Amino acid sequence: MRFFALLATAVLSVVVRADSDTAASAASAAASAPSSSAAALSASSFANATLQENLSNSLSQANFYGAPIPPWEVGCHPGWYYGNDPGAVVGWTIPWLLDALICDILDLLPFCLHCPVPKPPPKNGWVQTFSNLNGATQASDYLTYGLVDTIQDCQTMCLGVSGCAFINTYHDVNGKNGSPLLTCALFKDCHDASDADNKGGQTQPDGSVDYITDSNGFCLQS
Ligand SMILES: *[C@@H]1O[C@H](CO)[C@@H](O)[C@H](O)[C@H]1NC(C)=O
Ligand SMILES: *[C@@H]1O[C@H](CO)[C@@H](O)[C@H](O)[C@H]1NC(C)=O
Repeated sequence: MRFFALLATAVLSVVVRADSDTAASAASAAASAPSSSAAALSASSFANATLQENLSNSLSQANFYGAPIPPWEVGCHPGWYYGNDPGAVVGWTIPWLLDALICDILDLLPFCLHCPVPKPPPKNGWVQTFSNLNGATQASDYLTYGLVDTIQDCQTMCLGVSGCAFINTYHDVNGKNGSPLLTCALFKDCHDASDADNKGGQTQPDGSVDYITDSNGFCLQS
């Protein structure tokens, strides 16, 4: 996570991007910037190829968009972060879906997660199927999970993932190394409280055991 965030800072600090340019034109703009950009240039062109390879492997549909182990199984980790504060992601290095370079690269990769483009709300909206539970949805139609700032951000993610019709947001307390962010899990089918039976219980690296709070489910009305 920090790597991706620092990379973006390095690129953007030497380049004022007038349009949604490619990393290649960012690199050539960096080449004509003052000498302090030399490190940023080599870092960014190296990172570009590495990032492309990394993102095409990790954020593929076949890899559950970065989260192949569902959030109720031991060894799971979120696949991505979509929100305004990448510094709030602690303990994992995951792609930030508001980073311009990462979004440019993802746009060129087939069968990969793309950065969500905020859309108008779905015409029939979202129906809340449960609220404020201490259990998270556990179901075989799982698509992916990541971290977000708000329930609305999770809904926006769902609208950008093929086949997504249901979101479950919750706090996974002790399960994210103390992060205040919301977990956002996406599913193909709608679920009610009866499937919200992941109560946590996973022992963390620091020995604590995680638990779930403020779990909410929303079904997309087609
Ligand atoms: C950076 O990555 C983009 C997207 O994959 C690619 O089109 C571009 O040619 C790359 N630029 C450099 C300098 O490697
Ligand atoms: C992608 O890069 C991250 C950060 O360096 C790393 O943790 C992850 O294992 C890489 N994933 C793949 C599929 O290469």
